[in-house]
Amino acid sequence: MQFQATVLAAILSSAAAFSPAISNNAASTTSLSATRQPIMAGNWKMNPSTEADAVALGEGLTSLLGEETCPIDDENPLCTEVVIFPPHPFISKVRESVEDAGITIGAQSMYFEDSGAYTGSVCASMVLSIGCEYVLCGHSERRTLFDDDDAAINRKVKKVLSSGMKPILCIGETKAEYDLNIKNEVCAMQLSKDLQGVTKEEMADVVIAYEPVWAIGTGLVCGSDAANETHGFLRTVLARMYDEEVAQATRIQYGGSVTPDSVDELMSKPEIDGCLVGGASLDAEKFGRIINYKHTK
Ligand code: PGA
Repeated sequence: MQFQATVLAAILSSAAAFSPAISNNAASTTSLSATRQPIMAGNWKMNPSTEADAVALGEGLTSLLGEETCPIDDENPLCTEVVIFPPHPFISKVRESVEDAGITIGAQSMYFEDSGAYTGSVCASMVLSIGCEYVLCGHSERRTLFDDDDAAINRKVKKVLSSGMKPILCIGETKAEYDLNIKNEVCAMQLSKDLQGVTKEEMADVVIAYEPVWAIGTGLVCGSDAANETHGFLRTVLARMYDEEVAQATRIQYGGSVTPDSVDELMSKPEIDGCLVGGASLDAEKFGRIINYKHTK
């Protein structure tokens, strides 16, 4: 216990040390707002198999959107922003089929370099030019299967921002780290490293997704009270790195086995601003129900 408290104090003080005190010239497309607009995102991962199936999934979703759904909107902070992340080859076609419904498109990944001999990779200008507004950064599958480390994730976050897009930065502890009771330390460290050099102004465009790795694709949902508590802790880290304004304005999603059955309870919690959904986003009915969660806060 003593050890953990000491480690956490050290991480929090280094989080403050990483804090970017000055702003740079990168344009922020949003401003820090006191009201956190809900944001529901669907990460399709390496699904579905064909372009026709991807378009059908997007179209199925558009028919299920409720009136409380809209793109990011300072004038209407209570309506839910919806973002979907199809695989790269399907992005353009899916965007055409969903944009009139107010659904925003994002890329599941990109490489931080601008161009060159990087076989198999795509860069920021490519995904921006086909209409992507968001890019997932730091997803646990990228961290483990594709060796994205915190330094690479940090470069990716900064490239997304300087290109005029918005990162959804995914962080979260593994099962072993959860069992060791070092969840907070792991999340604080990831936030500190992955946001190093990101300015206060740029934070208006950053969404954080807390995704316990042990809950992703396993059917094990983190309890809503536990997730809410972790989100609250992440705000204390953001307050140390930036200030209370950033801590309160930053949208923090929960991700990990979210379903129509768990969404209402999760979204009733004050610190949870949305969900990042994998498996259930591949079923239009299920994701439609998640987007149209019951508003109880
Ligand atoms: P899941 O995936 O909803 O299938 O657990 C979540 C994610 O990977 O973002």
